[in-house]
Amino acid sequence: MAFKRAKITGVGRYLPDYVLTNEELESYVDTNDEWIRTRTGISERRILKDPDKATSFMATNAANEALKDAGVSAEEIDLVVVATVTPDYLFPATAALVQKRVGAKNAFAYDLSAACSGFLFALSTVGSMIESGRIKKALVIGADKMSSIMDFTDRSTCILFGDGAGAVVLEETNEDTGIVDFIQYTDGDEDNMLYQPAGGSLHPATEETVKNKQHYIKQDGRSVFKKATEGMADVSSEIMEKNNLKADDVAWLVPHQANLRIIHATARRMGLDKNKVMVNINKYGNTTAATIPLCLYDWKESLNDGDNIILSAFGGGLTWGAIYLKWSK
Ligand code: COA
Repeated sequence: MAFKRAKITGVGRYLPDYVLTNEELESYVDTNDEWIRTRTGISERRILKDPDKATSFMATNAANEALKDAGVSAEEIDLVVVATVTPDYLFPATAALVQKRVGAKNAFAYDLSAACSGFLFALSTVGSMIESGRIKKALVIGADKMSSIMDFTDRSTCILFGDGAGAVVLEETNEDTGIVDFIQYTDGDEDNMLYQPAGGSLHPATEETVKNKQHYIKQDGRSVFKKATEGMADVSSEIMEKNNLKADDVAWLVPHQANLRIIHATARRMGLDKNKVMVNINKYGNTTAATIPLCLYDWKESLNDGDNIILSAFGGGLTWGAIYLKWSK
């Protein structure tokens, strides 16, 4: 059987127009622009205001742009995966809604839930399916409408997140490029450190759960910060070592955008200069599964064939991991 890899051939995104600034948040909770910028790196984030639009709307727009960028028609797509923790419905999958709306009528479709590591886990899963020869072309989408689970009276969480979607087309290649390696971890012991308490089968929606604000995101920020800093730095340096990559060999770090201090700690451990690190948390905040493809979109004109790129993420679960990919389009 011929050597196969999976490579990204198109990138797309959707960001809502509404810009929620730190100044506006000052009118909701006891916070200030200076605290938010210095503790997180965030200046503003996008919010999908239209109550009739949700994650599938953003994911569909991002997917259409990725298909156009790749020059691939929707009918050629074999698989659509949407990584999200804010699906339109618990079921059917948001990916099924996207499959219909983009016209990917030959594709099967499902969602993947790994919170902020969702896009990374989806990319490795779909990439492995392409490498196996089972499928040839896929849409991998990270999309979250975090504003649907944000408590705008809780200053410890409402300043952090934003809405958005990023998508890539992943295709089979016989070249020595694309996804080269990945390392991924989960620690299910810490299920209460970062979670949405109600709305699942354990605590279905009741008057009580709504009254107690259990449908909003809850997190122990300080503990998540510590775990995320360790996890992202460890796994990023681990994948470099495993693939004999020195800092000079790495062209870009594409980190999940949760906190600028976590990003800088990861880059430091990898020995990378800041100019090799993609950072857009200032503009979009933490868009959960969308952060990594949104970075790839913002930097796509700066990516060159042969660039060694490390994607790295950490999120609820707890989940974390890194992907080593060699760029070519
Ligand atoms: N504005 C002003 N003050 C705030 C605040 C806000 N929005 N949020 C918290 N504070 C206060 C706290 O109450 C605390 O006050 P105290 O010292 O009087 O008790 C103080 O600021 C420090 O709080 P702490 O939680 O220790 O701050 P921190 O430096 O850990 O930063 C986060 C908080 C949430 C920014 C940080 O922990 C973080 O980014 N965690 C990772 C979270 C994440 O992104 N997870 C998503 C998936 S990876």
